[in-house]
Order: sequence, then C-alpha cells, then structure tokens
Amino acid sequence: MILIASDHAAFDLKQHLVAFLKEMHHEVGDLGVDQIESVDYPDFAHRLAEGVQRGDGVQGILICGTGLGMSMAANRHAGIRAALCHDAYTAAMARKHNDANVLCLGARVLGVGVAEQVVRVFLSTPFEGGRHQRRVDKIET
Ligand code: RB5
Repeated sequence: MILIASDHAAFDLKQHLVAFLKEMHHEVGDLGVDQIESVDYPDFAHRLAEGVQRGDGVQGILICGTGLGMSMAANRHAGIRAALCHDAYTAAMARKHNDANVLCLGARVLGVGVAEQVVRVFLSTPFEGGRHQRRVDKIET
C-alpha cells in the first residue's frame, strides 16, 4: 500500500502520480488534498505519517511546493524516515542506506518525468541493511 498526500501547490502532480502508481499496479491511498484552495501542508504530512506508522510495510509519498515543509513535519513522527529526493540517485540512496519509508517531492522543483523516475526508483530499491541498520537504529532519539 502506498499512501500519498499533497498540499495545493502539488495537487496536479499528486493527481498525476496517483494515476501513475495505479498503472504500476500499486494499491494507492489518496489522503488529499482534493482541490487547489490553499491548505496547510503539516495537516497532510501528519495525516500521512500516522497512516505509515499504523500500517505494516506501508510507504508514503508527500508532495508540496519544495518538499521541505512536508519532510520537516513528517520527520517529527517516531519511526518515520522521510527523505526529500530530487533525482534517481538520492531516491536510491534514501532506500539503500536510510531505509526511508516516506518519499518527499517538490512539485515546483521537479518536472513530471523526473518525479516519475524518482518514485519508480524509490519504490523498487531495497534497503541494504548491515551497517546501515545500525545507523538507522541510531536515528530515533
Ligand atoms: C506553499 O506555498 C508552500 O510553502 C508549500 O507548498 C511548501 O513548499 C512548503 O514547504
């Protein structure tokens, strides 16, 4: 299950990625926003983070204008490792080394093609474990 949410700045990209994920046969939970009126990104980040915390193996995608506010808010939740990724390399490393469970994207930063590539890489790259597991365990305070 992939949970996805955005604010108004990223509504169009979120709608696009919902369809893209469904084309890839993922089960998608769309947590909003459902329109382009201005909203507050932390409301959506917290909603999605709580869904990822509750679910077993659930991953999340959060999108705002830059991805910055979403990542800051999501990372306040225990067990959430939200990674702001701008390209295939950061998406791959966020999974391989950081075991990120939430991908954050900036709709005003990325083109649609790059955003699709980042999502595809993030969802298909496994965590490497080993020494990285020890480091990930040390993230929680
Ligand atoms: C909204 O204008 C913008 O601040 C928001 O989408 C996001 O970029 C915040 O980090």
